Amino acid sequence: MALQPYNSFGIVARALRLARVRDEADVRTLMADAGWASLTREAAPFVLGGGSNLVLTGDIKPLVLKVEIRGRRLVEETAKGWLIEAGGGENWHETVQWTLEQGWPGLENLALIPGCVGASPVQNIGAYGVELQDRFHELDAIDLQTGQSFTLNAAQCGFGYRDSVFKHTPAGDKGFGLAGRALITRVRFWLPKPWKPVLGYADLERKMAETGVSHPDARQIFDWICAIRRAKLPDPAVIGNAGSFFKNPTVSVEQCADIIARDPKVVHYPMADGSIKLAAGWLIDACGWKGRGVGNAGVYEKQALVLVNRGGATGGEVMTLAKAIQTSVYERFGILLEPEPVVV
Ligand code: EPU
Repeated sequence: MALQPYNSFGIVARALRLARVRDEADVRTLMADAGWASLTREAAPFVLGGGSNLVLTGDIKPLVLKVEIRGRRLVEETAKGWLIEAGGGENWHETVQWTLEQGWPGLENLALIPGCVGASPVQNIGAYGVELQDRFHELDAIDLQTGQSFTLNAAQCGFGYRDSVFKHTPAGDKGFGLAGRALITRVRFWLPKPWKPVLGYADLERKMAETGVSHPDARQIFDWICAIRRAKLPDPAVIGNAGSFFKNPTVSVEQCADIIARDPKVVHYPMADGSIKLAAGWLIDACGWKGRGVGNAGVYEKQALVLVNRGGATGGEVMTLAKAIQTSVYERFGILLEPEPVVV
């Protein structure tokens, strides 16, 4: 079973079996199947959503579970906000659009992020000043070892910057984790009232100055975000990619001062905890990577943080390019960039 159509990078890889999951019962039926034990003996089943934050390397994934759980509803509206629920297989951007059409603002800054609802908590998606954790209420999942359903709140998800409990294995660095173990079936979002716009980002401030609109509504912000993203991020339907390929690193004030002394233009932002966030895209750009590549994997011309598939790139080529970028950024700035997508 070819996986190329199921990952936004368009990397060629195969699975022995791809099973579609439309509800909880589908998972339990699969687990009761005689083939389950043999397919999951070597490796945990791989849960696939929109496949937009993924680098597939190596060839055969024994069992891939493609989440196609649908359904969106308002669970309740109170004087304090709206509680919304969406199935893990719902498209993220369409869900954001739908909430706005219903008159429930709050997700507009997260417009046009590729992928599906079930994947959104895995990497705690974020853009233009809003992270999923700011709008998250809880999620339902199925344990792929026991078949039990369970619910997690935000604290239990262990959200961090592009991080959660779903990106870590039990034996990993955090000492706990649910990678390979949980299939997220439904996510509930809390959109508080009164709605407050989040406008602190330079790109949004520029839009306000350009248009003279100083009090945009949620729909206006949604339209601006779509325009900003379309101008600098490649559409995965046209050029294979997985969004930002590296996380923006944080450094200490001293480390940052040292970098500024050598590179006064380095793009940096102070964080609430006293550390400084650096723009990884700027660091990669400064090392001259824009437009370059390895084999069919390349660095996007308009945004150095995005690696693209120029056609037929293998996971190996993408990872070789990523390592070459890491080496040159490390040699110049002494910073080791961490990949952002899940590398399988
Ligand atoms: N920059 C350069 N050269 C480049 C790219 C960026 O000089 O080639 C500079 C820009 O001029 C800007 C700064 O770096 O001053 C930051 O760039 P940008 O505003 O495009 O944001 P980013 O740091 O590249 C992050 C997220 C995006 C998110 C945007 C907006 C990460 C890893 N990426 O990108 O998220 O959409 O901010 O909030 O945090 C994703 O995670 O896949 C993603 C696209």
